Amino acid sequence: MNPTQIVVQPGGKPVIGKFIQAVMNPGDEVLYPNPGYPIHESQIDYDGGVAKAHRYVPTATGFRIDVDQMRDLITPRTTVLIYNDLQNPMSAESSQVEREDIAGLARRHDLQVLSDEAHFEMRCSGAPSSIASLPAMPERTTIVYTFSKQFATTGLRLAARPPRSPLPMSLPS
Ligand SMILES: Cc1ncc(COP(=O)(O)O)c(C=O)c1O
Repeated sequence: MNPTQIVVQPGGKPVIGKFIQAVMNPGDEVLYPNPGYPIHESQIDYDGGVAKAHRYVPTATGFRIDVDQMRDLITPRTTVLIYNDLQNPMSAESSQVEREDIAGLARRHDLQVLSDEAHFEMRCSGAPSSIASLPAMPERTTIVYTFSKQFATTGLRLAARPPRSPLPMSLPS
């Protein structure tokens, strides 16, 4: 990745909306996680897409994506996949095998991927790894990252320069 591939926005949420508007046409089918961050589904609906929920199944230690169900949901109208690892709200962590299976689906069906990495580093074990690092994935993946989780700075706004003038300390007489 180089700096020309990075766009800075005021929070992660606007990126989800702009991504959907940029890559999806009305009527396209979009896979998204459910349970999940509610903005994924509402943004697909708002822009006239067909939101298709992919689900999670319990494991001995948590949850995993039901990749077979995800595969069954894909039709010729499916153009976009929203993938959330580490997942909100269930903290499901993809294994490398799961990540590679999902990347394989994206390549095979020519899907654009939104990799929502808002909680990327917040893992119980192991090192985080992005689906965008897998072969032939950078060109079809947009990563959402945000300061609001790892750096606990919800509401912090970026400033290109300091305020122009200080607030007056007292009212003129
Ligand atoms: C999975 C996920 N993606 C994106 C966001 C949006 O992040 P931000 O608070 O920077 O708008 C959140 C916020 O809770 C989230 O949980």
